[in-house]
Amino acid sequence: METSKFNKITALWIVVVLVLFIASIVLGIIMRLNQSEVISLYPTTFYTDMTVHGLTMIGIWFVAGMAAINYIMERYVKTSFYANLTALILTVFGVVLLWVSAFVGDFHAGWTFLHPLPLKLMWEKWATPMFLTSMAILGIGWLIWSLSLTASLLKKYSFSQVFAWQHLTKDPKTETPPFVLISMVTLVGIITCLIVAVVLIVLLFAEYFSRGTFVNDALLMKNLTYFFGHTIANEMLYLGLAIIYELFSEISGKPKWKTTWYVALAWNFTMVFILTAFFHHLYMDFVQPEGFQIIGQLASYFASLPAAGVTVFSIIIAVYKTKIKWSLANILFFVGVAGWVVGGLGAVIDATISNNFILHNTLWVPAHFHTYNAMGNVLFSLGFFYWFSKQFSGEEIKYKFSKLTIILLILGGAGFLAAFYFGGADSIPRRYSTYPVEFTTAKTLALIGATFASVYLIAILIFFANISKRCLNVIFSRS
Ligand code: HEM
Repeated sequence: METSKFNKITALWIVVVLVLFIASIVLGIIMRLNQSEVISLYPTTFYTDMTVHGLTMIGIWFVAGMAAINYIMERYVKTSFYANLTALILTVFGVVLLWVSAFVGDFHAGWTFLHPLPLKLMWEKWATPMFLTSMAILGIGWLIWSLSLTASLLKKYSFSQVFAWQHLTKDPKTETPPFVLISMVTLVGIITCLIVAVVLIVLLFAEYFSRGTFVNDALLMKNLTYFFGHTIANEMLYLGLAIIYELFSEISGKPKWKTTWYVALAWNFTMVFILTAFFHHLYMDFVQPEGFQIIGQLASYFASLPAAGVTVFSIIIAVYKTKIKWSLANILFFVGVAGWVVGGLGAVIDATISNNFILHNTLWVPAHFHTYNAMGNVLFSLGFFYWFSKQFSGEEIKYKFSKLTIILLILGGAGFLAAFYFGGADSIPRRYSTYPVEFTTAKTLALIGATFASVYLIAILIFFANISKRCLNVIFSRS
């Protein structure tokens, strides 16, 4: 009974995520078409699109990772179905409020809603409190879910075991599975940044309702915003990696990946350093203490390189010169790891202070974060969705469809991203609804981006058509 409840809710998450994904990609293509001047939107409409697109994308790929790790975690510990259900209900409710505040109330402060923008009220007056309420609802739902999963892990594993510290000694007596270690490391980061998000929202509400008698410190608000935003965007990738550590070998018909001393060390490093890497978003803020800028650069390297190193090493060992069973799921994982690494390199280049002087707020930024999201984390979750849905129908998606899906995803994704990278290298700024004539290549690149993004969308539609029926069967089955 319990298992079937988890099957149903996971299938429901998958359908909700894919429907919102398709809608958000359409918003993304509309933005690129507007930047190419093929269509013409009011600037306000462009920025409401951008705000909804950014926040919905971050939200859905976060919950997709959470739903997947919750489903897999049931293999190791008993988790709470009701925490999962609460998160689902609050997510849907929060997204509806977000979309209404933007599309009806015209709220358009961007996905980071950086102080003091949400308080400028360049839209319906009610839209700001509705937007902040939507963020609070999402934050509370996700916090309950994360705390509940953490509590489940801590019921079975001791504090040191859950972080695999015994693997740093010779001959550890017990094994902490890599999935448990990475899930725990990630949950620590998620809980920390969600608590910071709650503080941020309370401070914004306080300023909104004080009618000018209380004004927040702008630098503190920017630090809190990026602590939350940067950290959650990275942690959701690690949720995807936890899935890969558990499923890649299993799907490929290979022995399970084990936690070694270097896997344990790398992920413990990541847990600590990811919490200070966000300082690289404030390099241009001259009032930020200089020490934080240096920490930002070093932490950007230390947070990304060890985890990337051990994951890439594990995946190369798993596929190099050995016969493995390929299916759509592990191909998606494999391509996703490549996308994650390429995007990660783009991010590390940008996080290096000398380069940031040139690349800051250019299209290089959406270039790298779209690489590890659209061609990294999204593929990790799609791989999970496929593996999950296949369990209930037993059959593979027809070979020609899976081949077509992969080809269109890679082709569409690479072209869409290349247009951002070339734009960034050409110093074209990000977040411009239309480009001044001085940026001579900007319009053409936007059109190329929109065209290839449409190819990517076709791949997603094919994928959705193939797995949605299986998921709906699970949701409506009587067992
Ligand atoms: C093919 C799919 C996608 C398309 C066509 C697309 C398109 C766009 C465009 C045109 C922008 C504005 C760029 C600018 O600053 O000029 C943007 C921003 C953004 N996108 Fe995407 N995107 C896609 C997928 C994704 C995915 C998968 C994610 C995250 C998981 C994502 C997250 C974001 C975020 C966070 C922003 C920043 C919004 C802001 O600045 O407030 N996008 N996207």
